[in-house]
Amino acid sequence: METMSPAREAGGRAGLNLIAPLSILNNSMVKLFITGGAGFIGSAFIRLALAEIPGCHVVNFDALTYAGNLDNLSGIDQSRHRFVRGDICDREAVGAVLAEGADAIINFAAESHVDRSIASADEFLRTNILGTQVLLDAARAAGVRRFVQVSTDEVMGSLPEDDNTFFTEASPFEPNSPYSASKAAAEHLVRAAHHTFGLDTVVTRCGNNYGPRQFPEKFLPLMLSNAMRDESIPLYGDGRNVRDWIYVEDHCRAILMVLQKGRTGEAYNVGARNERRNIEVAQSVLTALGKPHTLIRHVKDRPGHDRRYAIDPTKIETELGWRPHETWETGLQKTIQWYADNDEWVARARSGDYREYYAKQYGTEAGAN
Ligand code: NAD
Ligand code: DAU
Repeated sequence: METMSPAREAGGRAGLNLIAPLSILNNSMVKLFITGGAGFIGSAFIRLALAEIPGCHVVNFDALTYAGNLDNLSGIDQSRHRFVRGDICDREAVGAVLAEGADAIINFAAESHVDRSIASADEFLRTNILGTQVLLDAARAAGVRRFVQVSTDEVMGSLPEDDNTFFTEASPFEPNSPYSASKAAAEHLVRAAHHTFGLDTVVTRCGNNYGPRQFPEKFLPLMLSNAMRDESIPLYGDGRNVRDWIYVEDHCRAILMVLQKGRTGEAYNVGARNERRNIEVAQSVLTALGKPHTLIRHVKDRPGHDRRYAIDPTKIETELGWRPHETWETGLQKTIQWYADNDEWVARARSGDYREYYAKQYGTEAGAN
């Protein structure tokens, strides 16, 4: 059993658990309950939080699905990190861990890949919607001070191509895939918990992350791991779809700021003003790797493929002073270097079930051209 954090103890003694000032979350003794912390962004956030808040302790609650990987946490200070294997839909398990005390919940746990949600939506509805409600209920029951929902720009649907329009926090919800619909539903539940029960909630909506430790089903690591093996890279449709790319650590810095300083009940869009067409991304990756552009293979388009995402990050920039640290060039270089240095991690990720997934998705074996 872990002991209650001093921050929580102090609030409890004064009987002020729910109205303690949020500056408590800057406190070096803060205890964070992080879900999905063995995944790509969750593990990057844990690294950042442990580095930025020296006395901070993390409970990492993760089901270890195909996307979860404890290797993603290698090298961190394990004395301030406790891993608990568990499912966020399991009310009892979540409640038992939260009963030990937590100052904030940051919910990264999700089924996160659009193509998989098109193949089957069941797990997306279960984890992304029901799981979020379980966490919200448990947060209230345990007197958790703040709940951060890590959401996505995809809840706002697709923007017109070559238009000067952007997603703002006021953009309507128009999710187009089962994945984005499930994330939109989760956001509605977060809003309801705030409005109805006064739970302190904040939401972040970010665009396409890239960086170390991203599972190679996603476009960028898929391209990197294929091209490094001289395998072709599948480009959906005409390849002119636009995504707004951000280095994962910059996204994590934004989440940390929103946790510590975001206004309760608010959502914050997070983007690095880095719109790029998929074809340009593929070409820059191949050029950086010194591989021929002929490795690009046009394949059948994704059904319902959103055309353009573009985020206006003015609110988080002006209210919280957030700015990305990496440019596309520096972020891409760091990412390429990590994949080059970690071929064993990549090979493990591409083995087992991945081969079956790849064959079904692309009609060809991973590793075949
Ligand atoms: P990921 O797929 O790499 O990781 C998801 C993690 O959640 C894994 O460790 C997995 O084991 C865990 N998980 C899944 N189901 C669970 C369950 N029922 N209970 C407990 N743990 C469970 O995802 P990611 O790319 O790191 O994304 C993290 C979050 O950020 C997601 O909520 C996603 O919607 C959101 N997001 C992602 C991006 C992106 O570009 N990847 C952009 C914006 C928002
Ligand atoms: O915008 C934020 C979202 O970004 C997150 O919420 C999602 O969790 C994350 O997966 C990502 O969604 P996308 O669908 O944009 O990411 P993905 O990497 O799957 O695809 C990026 C673009 O590349 C998209 O336009 C589809 C295209 N693509 C993707 C794959 C996997 C290809 O052309 N070929 C591919 O093989």
